[in-house]
Amino acid sequence: SKVVLAFSGGLDTSVILKWLKETYGCEVVTFTADLGQGEELEPARRKAELMGVRPEHIFIDDLREEFVRDYVFPMMRANALYEGLYLLGTSIARPLIAKRQIEIARQVGADAVSHGATGKGNDQVRFELGYYALAPDIKVIAPWREWDLTSRTKLIEYAEAHQIPVPRDKRGEAPFSTDANLLHTSSEGKVLEDPWQEVPDYVYSRTDHLEAAPDQADYITIDFERGDAVAVDGEGLSPAALLAKLNDLGRTHAIGRLDLVENRFVGMKSRGMYETPGGTILHAAHRAIEGITLDRGAAHLKDELMPRYAELIYNGFWFSPEREMLQAAIDHSQQKVSGTVRLKLYKGGAHIVGRKSPNSLYSEKVVTFEDDQGAYDQRDAEGFIKLNALRLRLLARREAR
Ligand code: ARG
Ligand code: SIN
Repeated sequence: SKVVLAFSGGLDTSVILKWLKETYGCEVVTFTADLGQGEELEPARRKAELMGVRPEHIFIDDLREEFVRDYVFPMMRANALYEGLYLLGTSIARPLIAKRQIEIARQVGADAVSHGATGKGNDQVRFELGYYALAPDIKVIAPWREWDLTSRTKLIEYAEAHQIPVPRDKRGEAPFSTDANLLHTSSEGKVLEDPWQEVPDYVYSRTDHLEAAPDQADYITIDFERGDAVAVDGEGLSPAALLAKLNDLGRTHAIGRLDLVENRFVGMKSRGMYETPGGTILHAAHRAIEGITLDRGAAHLKDELMPRYAELIYNGFWFSPEREMLQAAIDHSQQKVSGTVRLKLYKGGAHIVGRKSPNSLYSEKVVTFEDDQGAYDQRDAEGFIKLNALRLRLLARREAR
């Protein structure tokens, strides 16, 4: 039998590769995704080869465009934030990895899939809900929930006993746990586990420090079409190229850092640090283009649905009927969300300074405090207020009796 392993090429998934062979006596197929994590992928191939994986069983896929186009952008249309702050950078990548793993399993005739997420977190849930939604009879192997390698030391001993190369800096305790892709880098564990302790400078990898941010602001424009960003400074870019460009700008201006204690799906609280430079800029810009193009009723309903939608993604229910229902409503709302937003990037902030759209609902003629030449009759407001006040007046009269 065969198992498809989500393989980063790092120490943990290398140990898992060996452990799967030893424990289950099965053939291991490795899958390494390029989601824009900024690491070379060829070392993962060499590592898999070295550990005896047949060349035709090593899958390395560039999923960057699909990731941004079909996962990040649809989520951005919703302005999704978990618990008001988290832009869901890890959560949104898991369903795509799961989907590709299942495709590979079908292709090579594997009956099982495996991942390196622990039994304490969200990622196990996201991977496995994805697997089961797409392949209800798949067998799932989650080594962290099964094996007796209960400490880093045991993991390294196991690696050394099995000729798995252990990088020098991994011999001691790994300083913290990270997950990276084009949207964000997340860091958790170890030095971050005391929520009172400020995140040390060395944990940051995606953004320059605020103290080093330039004194000169950058002004940029972002063009939107039907809710999706399509150009920066007038230059049309693919989804992945556009996000990469905003990441560069955000890095320089120290934009998108977040220190957060959040509620994991499994019930515990965890403290993490996120860097989402381009995503933070995009989120602000998308809200601004919606500001002039979305009707109030549609906008407010979207804002009510958003926490629910974000929670579905956080909890791993991307491939669920309720997420798809919400997505259909959100996508429908974006038909007129086109135009240009102008931002000032300066010392950690992505500040909106202008917006325009051929579909704008903003009417200077109506809103002006100057002479509106009959565009709005102020006398209409009297009846509007009186009827809205009716129940409040009846209540007040009762109180006075
Ligand atoms: N807490 C984040 C989430 O659940 C990130 C989890 C993975 N991050 C990590 N550093 N291992 O989406
Ligand atoms: C893990 O447990 O593997 C990472 C953290 C998480 O999934 O929440």
